[in-house]
Amino acid sequence: MSTKKQFAYQEDMPYAREPLKSLYVCQRIFTTLVMVGWWALYYSIMPRSYRPRPSWSVKCCIAVNFTRRIYRVTELAGVTWGTRDPDQPCDNRKLKRTRFEWVDPLPEELRTGVIADPQVPFKRVGCFVWPRERPKIIPTCPGKEETHSDDTLMDGGEFEEAAGEVPVIGIFLHGGGYCHMSAHENAPTSQIPERLMRDKVFTEIHAVEYRLLQHAPFPAAVQDAAAVYAHIVQRHQRHGHKKPTHAFPETPSCYVPRPHADTDYLVDTPEPRALLQRTFLGHNPVETMHSPYVSPTSSRVLRAFYGDAFAESVADLTIAQLDDQQRQYLRTMCSVPATPVPATPIIGGGGILNGHGHTKPPLISRPPEAASEEQDRSPTSLAHPIIASPRGLSLFSEFPKTCVVLGDAERLEREVMRLVGAMERDGVDVHTIWVKDAPHDVLMMKWWDEGVRDAVWAQVEEWVRRV
Ligand SMILES: *[C@@H]1O[C@H](CO)[C@@H](O)[C@H](O)[C@H]1NC(C)=O
Repeated sequence: MSTKKQFAYQEDMPYAREPLKSLYVCQRIFTTLVMVGWWALYYSIMPRSYRPRPSWSVKCCIAVNFTRRIYRVTELAGVTWGTRDPDQPCDNRKLKRTRFEWVDPLPEELRTGVIADPQVPFKRVGCFVWPRERPKIIPTCPGKEETHSDDTLMDGGEFEEAAGEVPVIGIFLHGGGYCHMSAHENAPTSQIPERLMRDKVFTEIHAVEYRLLQHAPFPAAVQDAAAVYAHIVQRHQRHGHKKPTHAFPETPSCYVPRPHADTDYLVDTPEPRALLQRTFLGHNPVETMHSPYVSPTSSRVLRAFYGDAFAESVADLTIAQLDDQQRQYLRTMCSVPATPVPATPIIGGGGILNGHGHTKPPLISRPPEAASEEQDRSPTSLAHPIIASPRGLSLFSEFPKTCVVLGDAERLEREVMRLVGAMERDGVDVHTIWVKDAPHDVLMMKWWDEGVRDAVWAQVEEWVRRV
């Protein structure tokens, strides 16, 4: 828990300053512990039907109410949990299961599109790499403290010899709403890469210490993730592994009230949320909120890319509603053109994309055919140019196979379902694991029912192996 440093976004928060801060935090912790006693008693005595979900154990009921109540100190006092300074290195002797490495800032030639922002510098990025020892089948880059030229990479022959199997390399972007947690091996969110490594699903996982919004606004986090992605691709390109990677998707925030207030521990209070969103946007104009890189499933973005009919069809999706027929409908909705509107140049400065309205992909190579195709297409006007289609492709074109885990008792259910709907609409092979009666991210909830968690892990791992 970090309570010392005060960040810019906390200026207007009286409880974020001493002495009120300590008082408030202590009061909150104390009363919450008292409440734990009450919750334990209440849920033990009352029939199961009084629980937020009858299938929950008493422990689950307490875990959800406890976490939600304690999270108020984040909203009111700006307390963040489990974070570290992304500019600080980590002493490898203090790490037990991972090794710390710096990844160079994203190479110049890839600094295009939404991530090119003169006010947000590209930086080197800390990575906690699982496992601690570099596995034999992963080619190394000798002299990696220097710049990475192709010559420094191990040659392909040596690699093939070592590799009877293909390395499965993952990038892990931890959760925590851009405010909490870290890529450090001891952060609660690191249970996810730890488990995947323990079960030998991946050869190597790079957990990215991306900049949280206390350190830099959008697009800093995207720059950092892109730097690590580019680094890994570069290391493996010569060996013919075009997909070394898979990132579990996350949905950013929307400001429509979310469902499942009583069954999830995530809090969703409008004012603190608005403050965090402002901090996240930083110097960027408010319309950046509608960038597909920020809110890919907001109604506005969905409407711009897929038309009104689609946006409405996924607007209120919940797991309970989504039967096979509905999924089929989503997949085959062809009434809207497959390729949405390209970007309109932003005239008179204030460019968000790169000042010229061309949205280039932030990441990696593209096939030459796509390039010429794009040039042939003339730009169409769009009321909100921030909703620009990268390269004239659809929102999720070229996305790899994706696995989404969500609980049907979680606050993000609707947003995640829209995401799934839009991805399927774009032909992405999405495997959705619905965890019945689960709140947000049970994979990192140590207190959750272990049987349920194991079942989810089994499904995730089976999917990874299949992919
Ligand atoms: C647990 O939290 C929910 C939502 O805040 C509340 O409605 C419920 O009454 C709480 N449980 C108890 C036993 O107080």
